[in-house]
Amino acid sequence: MLPNVRPENMQRITTIELANAFIDEQVKEIRQQVGDKKVLLALSGGVDSSVVAALLIKAIGKQLVCVHVNHGLMRKGESEQVLEVFGKELDANLIYVDATDRFLGLLEGVSAPEQKRKIIGGEFIKVFDEEASKLKGISFLAQGTIYPDIIESDGVKAHHNVGGLPEEMQFELVEPVRLLYKDEVRVVGSALGLPDNMVYRQPFPGPGLGVRCLGAITRNRLSALREADAILREEFEKGGLAGKVWQYFIAVPDMKSVGVKDGKRYEGWPAIIRAVNTVDAMTATIEEIPYSLLHKITDRITKEVAGINRVLLDLTPKPIGTIEWE
Ligand code: XMP
Repeated sequence: MLPNVRPENMQRITTIELANAFIDEQVKEIRQQVGDKKVLLALSGGVDSSVVAALLIKAIGKQLVCVHVNHGLMRKGESEQVLEVFGKELDANLIYVDATDRFLGLLEGVSAPEQKRKIIGGEFIKVFDEEASKLKGISFLAQGTIYPDIIESDGVKAHHNVGGLPEEMQFELVEPVRLLYKDEVRVVGSALGLPDNMVYRQPFPGPGLGVRCLGAITRNRLSALREADAILREEFEKGGLAGKVWQYFIAVPDMKSVGVKDGKRYEGWPAIIRAVNTVDAMTATIEEIPYSLLHKITDRITKEVAGINRVLLDLTPKPIGTIEWE
């Protein structure tokens, strides 16, 4: 990177007009870099990879091959949205791999958080590698690297991102948003016509619901977590909190308590609500959720989600609690 094009000296992309100018410039650059060769992209459905996909589709159409690996730990509706937006609406060259059984099989009985992360990250690379080796004539690998990824080597967040790909992959990189900050990537995404709920998505860890289905993951508890999380997101959306709160989700621990339902003993898991605000995820404060909304969420989750019999609220700032529970 040349010193005079570092983001500090760049005009920040704050409007659709500036985003369009950036897009035009990148389309030219990408075409020049790629020529008539093929480009591979791991499309998670997150903001960065989605924007890179849309940008590359605009620049080189079917020369881009997107691979979406569903590790079975996505939130409700996420893989479906990737298929809808990229497969149908943008008519992308999209390979969808449902690897749910592989991931959940490997994770069976594994309760240590770091071990779970390693399994998920390692298997992701394997699945992606397998798909890549089936393809012929790929010369480039596109990545949704953004500027903070380049400068962030702080050592505090020791997360190996699940999107991290094997170093031995011999592809030249295409990283069209590498000089942008997250806010700018979002503006570019909107200018490219991506839906708001994709562009303004809250951060979601690479290992997905795997770090929120605490302890050893079971299909039943994972499914309860996914449904409860969907209700939380829906109610935050309706209550006007979705665009305001930085990150909010449900965690479900591997423990049961006694409850009562329809006059009978009902043992179930608690759903823990976590809703935090932060600037850089290094420290975080708690969102004050109105009690009326908490009652509504509790009512819906306990009535609608099989296996959940209590709803709890996590009031712990970071530090001392990390944002995620694992
Ligand atoms: P913690 O839990 O460390 O999380 O306070 C800080 C932020 O990072 C996200 N996070 C992850 N992101 N891979 C990721 O890509 C991971 O393994 C991972 N773990 C946590 C977390 O959701 C929060 O936004």
